[in-house]
Amino acid sequence: MTHQKVIVVDFGGQYSQLIVRRVRELGVYSEMIPWTGARGALCEHKPDAVILSGGPKSVLEPGAPSLDLSLLEGVPTLGICYGLQLLAAGLGGKVERADQREYGFRVLSPVEGTLVAGLKSGQVWMSHGDQVIAAPPGFIVSASTDSCPVAAFENPAKGIFGVQFHPEVSHTVGGKEVLRRFLFDVAKLRGDWTRESFISDELESIRAVVGPEGKVLCAVSGGVDSAVMAALLIKAIGERAVCVFVDHGLLRKNEAAEVEETFRGHFHANLKVFREHERFFSALRGLTDPEVKRKAVGENFVRVFEDHAAELQGCDYLAQGTLYPDVIESGSPTAAKIKTHHNVGGLPAWMRMKLIEPLRWLFKDEVREVGRALGVPEYIVSREPFPGPGLAVRVLGEVTPERVRSVQDADWIFREELRKEGLNQGIWQSYAAILDVRSVGVMGDERTYEQPIVLRAVESEDAMTARAVALPFEALERIAARIVNEVSGVNRVFYDLTSKPPATIELE
Ligand code: XMP
Repeated sequence: MTHQKVIVVDFGGQYSQLIVRRVRELGVYSEMIPWTGARGALCEHKPDAVILSGGPKSVLEPGAPSLDLSLLEGVPTLGICYGLQLLAAGLGGKVERADQREYGFRVLSPVEGTLVAGLKSGQVWMSHGDQVIAAPPGFIVSASTDSCPVAAFENPAKGIFGVQFHPEVSHTVGGKEVLRRFLFDVAKLRGDWTRESFISDELESIRAVVGPEGKVLCAVSGGVDSAVMAALLIKAIGERAVCVFVDHGLLRKNEAAEVEETFRGHFHANLKVFREHERFFSALRGLTDPEVKRKAVGENFVRVFEDHAAELQGCDYLAQGTLYPDVIESGSPTAAKIKTHHNVGGLPAWMRMKLIEPLRWLFKDEVREVGRALGVPEYIVSREPFPGPGLAVRVLGEVTPERVRSVQDADWIFREELRKEGLNQGIWQSYAAILDVRSVGVMGDERTYEQPIVLRAVESEDAMTARAVALPFEALERIAARIVNEVSGVNRVFYDLTSKPPATIELE
């Protein structure tokens, strides 16, 4: 990519990703590098500015995370929390264990200096045990709090700045202004990284990589990431983006048709649909263990690709909808690992295609923005996360076409009602599942002995933790009545109140 770039060196801080996000919000491209890989990244990429993150360790401990500060010469640098302490310790200042850990909001009194002068004195978020008690020679102390004598320091001539508080945390008063001043007043960056510039850069780079003849296999699942990835590829190389959609019969009601319609009708894509309901249902017959079911779905994805090898043979590249959090998690920004659960459930080993991951620099909401800019319809862009094995993990026990149909119908009613009443706002995921037990009921004077549907709606930030949504009782009652009346094989409805942890979002 050709944009200006800010590297955030991560020392294990809780808010490191947030720093990256804030910088991007200000229109400057930013990437996070673990401190252990900082030397290579700084030498190779020559960033336009560097931010050193916070971290849980003490610079006073032997073996604490460190950085060769000579690598930063000539590069505008901002140290935050641990980053500030590292700069202080490395440049001749003094760091000490504080009498008490400072945690929470403190009132900052800015005194002077480029980053903080003129800011209203206000609350800033602090979270540290050590503190700087003397700035390095040549630095000015630009702010303090009651309990922290050096809450900010700077040496503008050297382009080095530090703050003890966390400007990236949204509740820090003036935090964004501190970052803005660093990026634009100090580092003189342009702030021209927008979704449009991202798209045009990616289009250019895809065309350069693939060449004038190359073909790219884009496996689409109906989810946001693969849809946006495919839209980008189609725009870049048209028909040479070979979109493949495996309809395993385990999608939500109407979703397979929507995917087809979107890609054929809307994007005029070169789309191959492999309709494989039979294959997946027969592979799942008799299986009840969740992990065994997951494995069966994954393996059969591979078989589908194997069986259609002749049609796909001309593809030299495979495009994947990997996102930046996956890249960060895998520990290395250059690692190109195909996650078995990702979109396509794994691909056969003989498919030695080179990988293209055009979204690997983006966070989920940025992907949604790019999708909107590319004209991906809103019902796909705002789609909730959906597990790769599909409804196989929402049909507890054996997966049969009838039980899948019950879940699809109940799920449709549930989400339609939520949508109609505007109750879907702020929900991370909402779905229906069917349990593997039966209970007695009475319907039109007849005894019934059928299965229950479980409804689940959760709020979450990142799927790591989640909480049940407090839906109005009347709405739940109405939805339950509709489901029992309209969905065959179902005579009871439960609402799952459990949070994650201890439960998970999916039932299997
Ligand atoms: P859990 O159930 O672990 O789910 O709380 C967390 C998030 O991951 C999704 N999920 C999956 N996604 N393959 C996937 O691609 C899977 O096997 C899978 N299992 C769970 C789930 O929908 C939620 O968003």
